[in-house]
Amino acid sequence: VKVGLVGGGVIGGGWAGRLVECGLDVVLYDPRPETERRVGEVLAAAERSWAKLVRAPRTRGTVTFASSLAQAVTDADIVQESATEDEALKRALLAEIDRHAQPDALVCSSTSGLLPTRLQADMSRPQRFVVGHPFNPVYLLPLVEVCAGERTAAETVGRACSFYESIGMRPLRVRREVDGFVADRLLEALWREALWLVHDGVATTADVDDAIRFGPGLRWAQMGTFLTYRIAGGEDGMRHFLEQFGPALQWPWTKLVEVPELSEAFVELLAAQSDDQAEGRSIWELERHRDENLVAIVAALRARDEGAGRVLREHEERVRVAAASEPRAGRLRLHVAVVPPQWIDYNGHMTESRYLEVCADATDALLRHVGVDESYLAGGHSLYTVESHLRHLREVAVDARLVVDTQVLRGSGKHLHLFHVLIDGETGEPVATGEHMLLHVDTRAGRTTPMLEPVAGAVAALAGEHAALGWPEAAGRSVGM
Ligand SMILES: NC(=O)c1ccc[n+]([C@@H]2O[C@H](COP(=O)([O-])OP(=O)(O)OC[C@H]3O[C@@H](n4cnc5c(N)ncnc54)[C@H](O)[C@@H]3O)[C@@H](O)[C@H]2O)c1
Repeated sequence: VKVGLVGGGVIGGGWAGRLVECGLDVVLYDPRPETERRVGEVLAAAERSWAKLVRAPRTRGTVTFASSLAQAVTDADIVQESATEDEALKRALLAEIDRHAQPDALVCSSTSGLLPTRLQADMSRPQRFVVGHPFNPVYLLPLVEVCAGERTAAETVGRACSFYESIGMRPLRVRREVDGFVADRLLEALWREALWLVHDGVATTADVDDAIRFGPGLRWAQMGTFLTYRIAGGEDGMRHFLEQFGPALQWPWTKLVEVPELSEAFVELLAAQSDDQAEGRSIWELERHRDENLVAIVAALRARDEGAGRVLREHEERVRVAAASEPRAGRLRLHVAVVPPQWIDYNGHMTESRYLEVCADATDALLRHVGVDESYLAGGHSLYTVESHLRHLREVAVDARLVVDTQVLRGSGKHLHLFHVLIDGETGEPVATGEHMLLHVDTRAGRTTPMLEPVAGAVAALAGEHAALGWPEAAGRSVGM
């Protein structure tokens, strides 16, 4: 997939960062003379973050800077417009993109709140246009709001959502075209209240930020607002919560109707308080700090398989499957891991427990492959590992790409006997082997039982095919002397 980017400011640069980290080639047009340097800085920030966060193989794409809009869009399968938020400018740019792009290319706009029906008005192929509204920093936040205009084809929305998913994002379809879509409407309500609180001397800008980051902000990242309030309603849930706190909506606590007048004095007050909060840190320092925190938060959410962490995990799995293409003859290659810095021990290489972690992830990938899915597990059946034998053959460095080749040694009745070879993706050399015996269990009765279909058949077929590979020299060993 080739992507044309029109506009290379904060958002256009952020798109370039995400796309390049996903291995896509990008052509970007922005008439501002500083564009190459500015986009270069965002690309570096994206690379830093992805190197720390993402545990799937990364092949980086390229960015080419075009000298005209036409050059950026003529070969593109997808064009993402991220120019200045100005309706007249965007309408003109979208009409120009429409003229130069391939007839079947998708055309998307990053607008934060302009209505797609108006933006597509001057296009001769408006059916291929949709809003794809991202969040800053685009290379780390997965949300993208997808909003169709009156003349957008249903198929365009589906194509845009699939594309965004393929680059690790979480598309949210906006069900009705409204100003500000969903997230910015929420954010604006909060922002308005924040301005009133400072305006009325109730809080400083730092107090408002503290009120979010030490409390509700921690809840929002994982459950949003409705699920959080459901819990606040106790056992009776949302109905009770509304009965209890609904009347408060009439009091009113809030001043949502108007904004305080942004007089010179008020703007001065906001700016001065904001300067105090920044404590002399530059925008670049603050951005870096923000990104490092986001990396840590998303990594924590990934470990819990929640929210943005789940989106990332699913993306990593898709990339691994795509990267795991060529196993050694006849074996299965279902898992690829990239060694993150936290796997490295005081000796400077991967600590031994991580070899087992990679084997365990490869076993999970095999189980999914043979049909152990959520419904199989929900039916009260699973496979438990009862014995493992690891051989640590070579040191593994940070960022190494480990591919795992799997052979099924035996798969019948209640037994599944596996042999994994962990291979250095660069040199092709084995760095470890893991041999594992798994037993099939009835999890409710708490005892072993024969495997059920479709797992039993799939495992037996693999064992039959893999018998031709012969018995691995290291299988069946005890600790070597
Ligand atoms: N900043 C945010 O947090 C945010 C979040 C989501 C969406 N958006 C939306 O993304 C878009 C861009 O916002 P931004 O924050 O990156 O603004 P920005 O000012 O950082 O970047 C806009 C860029 O558009 C370029 N531009 C102007 N005229 C152009 C033209 N004719 N052709 C190509 N490029 C042109 C400018 O040179 C500039 O570099 C807006 O529609 C905005 O609403 C912004």
